[in-house]
Amino acid sequence: MEEIKIQQTDIRKDKPDQSNLPFGHYFTDHMFLLDYNLEQGWHEPRIVPYAPLVLDPAAMVFHYGQAVFEGMKAFIAKDEQILLFRPNKNMERFNQSNRRLEIPEIDGDFIIHAIQTLVNVDKEWIPSGKGTSLYIRPFIIATEACLGVRASHTYQLLVILSPVGAYYSEGLEPVKINVESSYTRAVRGGLGTAKAAGNYAASIKAQTEAKDAGYSQVLWLDAIEKRYIEEVGSMNIFFKINGKVITPQLNGSILAGVTRDSIMELLNNWEVPVEERQISIEEVYEASLNGALEEVFGTGTAAVISPVGELFWNNHQMIVNEGHIGQLSQKLYDTITGIQTGLLPDTLQWTVQV
Ligand code: COI
Repeated sequence: MEEIKIQQTDIRKDKPDQSNLPFGHYFTDHMFLLDYNLEQGWHEPRIVPYAPLVLDPAAMVFHYGQAVFEGMKAFIAKDEQILLFRPNKNMERFNQSNRRLEIPEIDGDFIIHAIQTLVNVDKEWIPSGKGTSLYIRPFIIATEACLGVRASHTYQLLVILSPVGAYYSEGLEPVKINVESSYTRAVRGGLGTAKAAGNYAASIKAQTEAKDAGYSQVLWLDAIEKRYIEEVGSMNIFFKINGKVITPQLNGSILAGVTRDSIMELLNNWEVPVEERQISIEEVYEASLNGALEEVFGTGTAAVISPVGELFWNNHQMIVNEGHIGQLSQKLYDTITGIQTGLLPDTLQWTVQV
């Protein structure tokens, strides 16, 4: 791959107030671009001023949704060091998504290098307050102007950066979740394991209805029986029942979260019993009735660890840990954010310096 060309802007935007950073509303001064065509493959890596794109209205992404993305974060650690968290895992998943959507694979190491270069150019944008970070959004869109339903012959990969606080306005306060029994997010063999834009489009109607009913998010059940728990869409989900931690196994329609994987490794190291298996909503409901449901939490890059204080399913209300964050959820949050920000030793070698 050629060297990354860098064109810096003279016009710098005002930075947002770090003490009040909503998720994904502010964007930095630059972005990274990389093009693909059949003759040259991926080519022309460049960092340019952040600006709107010019695309043909027939660009295939607009019509058939050939689009994938990733979510990562950069943190300011001590001595002004900048750290990324397990970027290689995101690149592996980026390529899994590419394969599923017939998008040409990328060179993960090169994209990490591009992200490091971009983050360095815009490093003044990395917030340093507790619970803040620079969210990194790499994504690929199909750009060929064609209305035939087939894989595009041209693509663009972009990386944009956004200084963020907590994903949920609740912060670390437990969120309320509606268990969705009508709509479906993904089916086995579909796109559920890919980080494809279409999965999120499929989730929006249920999400809007849940919001209107006073819930922050939707918990998805399997598409066929509407019984087995899958994920929240913006995060994977864990239940602590009778001292054991259970998370749905990756079954072909659940996204393999990087935070999910990290949490399981931490729990294994701490010798907390953890099971990756099918878990039904009835099992969770029964556990809540007999007092065995100790904690519920979501995990994700954006969400970090998000405690769940209430689940609502088929007119049944399940209050978890009296609506408070549980001890294990708090310990996991402190450990993950501690490693990410260099406050705790990175014994698992998860962080990468920019
Ligand atoms: C992430 O956690 O990075 C995601 O991509 C989830 C998204 C809904 C914000």
